[in-house]
Parts: sequence; structure tokens; C-alpha cells
Amino acid sequence: MPPQLLAKEKTDIDILTVAFRDFTQATQSLKASYQVVKSQVARLNKELAEANEKLSQKVRELSGTRNYLNNTLNSMMNGVIGIDLQERITIFNQAAEIITSYEAEEVVGLAYQKIFTDKNRFFTSLFKKTLQERRALIEERIFHRFNKRVPLEIITNPVQDREGKIEGVLAVFRDVSLVRKLQEEIRDKEGLAMTGEMAASVAHEIRNPLSGIEGFALLLKDSLREKKQKEWADSIIEGARNLDNLVTNLLNFARPLRPDFQEIEPAKIIEDVLPFAFQEAEKKKMSLEVVKRFIAQKAKIKGDADLLKQAFLNFMLNSIQAMADEGRLTITIKQTNFSYVNKFSREEKGGYLLTKFPRQVLIEFSDTGCGISSEEKKRIFRPFYTTKKKGYGLGMAITRRIIQSHEGIIQVESEKGKGTTFSVIFPLKEAED
Ligand SMILES: Nc1ncnc2c1ncn2[C@@H]1O[C@H](COP(=O)(O)OP(=O)(O)OP(=O)(O)O)[C@@H](O)[C@H]1O
Ligand SMILES: [Mg+2]
Repeated sequence: MPPQLLAKEKTDIDILTVAFRDFTQATQSLKASYQVVKSQVARLNKELAEANEKLSQKVRELSGTRNYLNNTLNSMMNGVIGIDLQERITIFNQAAEIITSYEAEEVVGLAYQKIFTDKNRFFTSLFKKTLQERRALIEERIFHRFNKRVPLEIITNPVQDREGKIEGVLAVFRDVSLVRKLQEEIRDKEGLAMTGEMAASVAHEIRNPLSGIEGFALLLKDSLREKKQKEWADSIIEGARNLDNLVTNLLNFARPLRPDFQEIEPAKIIEDVLPFAFQEAEKKKMSLEVVKRFIAQKAKIKGDADLLKQAFLNFMLNSIQAMADEGRLTITIKQTNFSYVNKFSREEKGGYLLTKFPRQVLIEFSDTGCGISSEEKKRIFRPFYTTKKKGYGLGMAITRRIIQSHEGIIQVESEKGKGTTFSVIFPLKEAED
């Protein structure tokens, strides 16, 4: 091989060697860089996974807290409504649904002015006033929905964030109908206690002189000859007897009732007292139509015939006294179903009758008289409440006691100028069939 060729070959090999060495170095540094990137990616992935885990944990915690708060809100007996500064409803718990008859689904997110209109506008004014005055307010108002009137005690509070910035208003309210009812009952009972004391002292003070008056009037009558004078003596005797009757009524009213229970048919009791009702109508010269709707004619209840006669007659007398020259009294007797009694008794006494007795008899006295305003309705069962010149205001008070002593319940529905319906429900002893 010529020497020039050898030299050239050697140079090529050198170049190749250098190139190969550079290549190897580059590959090694690439490998090193790759390792660095790989470990960085692995670290980032780990950090990401940890961050993810923390986030999921937070989300779990938050939804747990949210569920807990929701459950707490929904387990409350009090209604809770929250509103934000955009005047939208944000919270509406289950008790609020029950009390107002609105569903949370239909109201959450809506402007509260759209929901609380007309007679319920007070909610709107309360929210506004709470925001303006930045303080808690307590009010008592009647909530209206369909035919329902619920007395509410409402407390509104501004909702503040940590810096004290107001974010909205929270209203917490409760149905106070039962409390009011109990207060009324206590008032009635106080009235009854007073009646008792009064009756006892009246009886003591009046009875003896009264029998003296009657006795002397009888002697006087015997010694008189003129017919006219005898009639005067008769008037004294009659007056004394009437007074004695009133004293006896008062004493009866004041004493605790001790019913003598027998198996009786309400239809028969009503038939027995109807003649007295017609007598009353005759006395005031009115034309009375009585419609008997005895659907459960043979239904039997456990009752004291004398007491029930007194109670039913009181209803009839009141109806006749409430009617002008002519009128109609419709008396209904029928068996009732659960849902009716449930609706009925919720207003009267928390539905205890429903759970205790499976079947009931409903008796209704419905008249076309002057009616009773809702204000008066609250008072008619109180002793001595009367709107009549010659009334004592004892009829309905004693009637309610009689009905309750029979484990019955009583309700009145009325419209001023149209008429009144008194309904009574007794546990059924024996059904029609
Ligand atoms: N059917 C009715 N229609 C209109 N008002 C009634 C009716 N029943 C009762 N009331 C009202 O309720 C009040 C109280 O009735 P309640 O029977 O207790 O007493 P009263 O009839 O006035 O007197 P008393 O029955 O002692 O003679 C009545 O004065 C009347 O205003
Ligand atoms: Mg009466």
C-alpha cells in the first residue's frame, strides 16, 4: 500500500474515533438528562396524587358537613328560611315545608317577594326590616295558605360573615297553635274554677231567702181573694222558681261531671229533644224547618243520655236563637273515616282520638242563622261569654265539657251572615251494620 494512502486512512480513523467518542458522551449526557426528567416526573406525579387525595378528602369532609347541616336543619321542629342579599330564598327546611305548605324545590332560588304575598307579606317586611336595622326581630303573625291559618312566632336574624359583613337573613319560626290552644284551655279552666266558687257562694247567699220568698208568696196567695192579686202572687212564685233554676244550673255547671255511661243511639237522643227545639221556635214565633240526615240511624255510642240531651239541646237552642223569622236546622249523623277525623282533630287535640278509637260517629248541627265571626269563635266556649240579652253564656262551655267527658271532640265552622255548623265526633261503640 502506498504511504499516502496509509496516512489518509489513519486520519479517517482518527476522525471516526473522535466522532464516536463525542457520540458516546452525548448519549451519556442524554441518558443522564432523561433520568433527571424521569425522576422529576415521578416526583410531580406523586405530588399530584397526594394533592388529589387531599382534595378528595376535603370534598368528602365538605359534603359530610353539608349533609350533617342539612340533616340538622331538616330534623328541627322549627321552620328555617334563609335569604341572600339578592333577595332569593337559599334555605327552606322540612319544617318550613310542613308549616307553609310550600315545597323547598319550588321556592329555593326564587325571590321571596314572589312567595310571600298578600296576607303573608309580613315575611317580606320582616326580612327587609332585619337587613335595614341589622338586628334580630321577634314577631307573632298568622300565616295563610289555602284554608289554613297558622299562628307563627318568628325570629329573624341578620347572617354575618367573619368580618361582620351581612350576607343575608335567617328566619326561624314555629307553629304556636297548640300553645295558644293550651293557654286558652287554661284560661277556660281558670274561668271554671271562678265559676265554681261564685256558684257556691251565690247558692249559699240566695237559696235560703229565695225559698223564703217562694213560701211566703204561696201563703200570701192563699190569703188573697182577688184574682188579680192572686196572679201577682203567682208572678212572685214563678220569678223565685226561675231564679232557683238558675242557681241549680250554676251549681251543676260548677260541679265535676260524673257521666253515667250506657249504650245509646244519638238519633234517639236527638228525637227526644227536638220537641223542645220546636217549643223555642214557637216562643219566638219563627218558622223552623228541621232536616234530619240520619245516615247512621242505628249507630251506638257510650254516653250519658241526660248529659247528651243537654248538649244537643244547647246546639239546637243556639241555632234557633241565631235565626230570624225563618230558618233551617240540618242535623246529620254518620260514620266517619280516618282522614276526616285526622283533619278534624288536628285542630282540636292533636289527633289523639284517631289513634285511640278506630271508628267514629259524626254528628252535625248546621243552621242558616247569623253566623259567628272568627274573632267571636275563639270565645264561644268560654264560660259567661254571650252576645245575647238574655243569655248566660254557659251553654257552649258546658256542652264542650260534656262532649269531652265522652272522649269526643267538638268543632265549629261558621260564616258571618250565612250560618253555623257545630260538629261533634264520638268514638263509635257499634256500627250500623
Ligand atoms: N249557632 C250559633 N249561631 C250563631 N252564634 C252562636 C251559635 N252558637 C253559639 N253562638 C254564639 O256563642 C255565644 C255563646 O253561646 P252559649 O250557648 O255558650 O251562650 P248563650 O247562648 O249566649 O247563653 P246560654 O246558652 O247560657 O243561655 C252566643 O251568645 C252566640 O254569640
Ligand atoms: Mg246557648
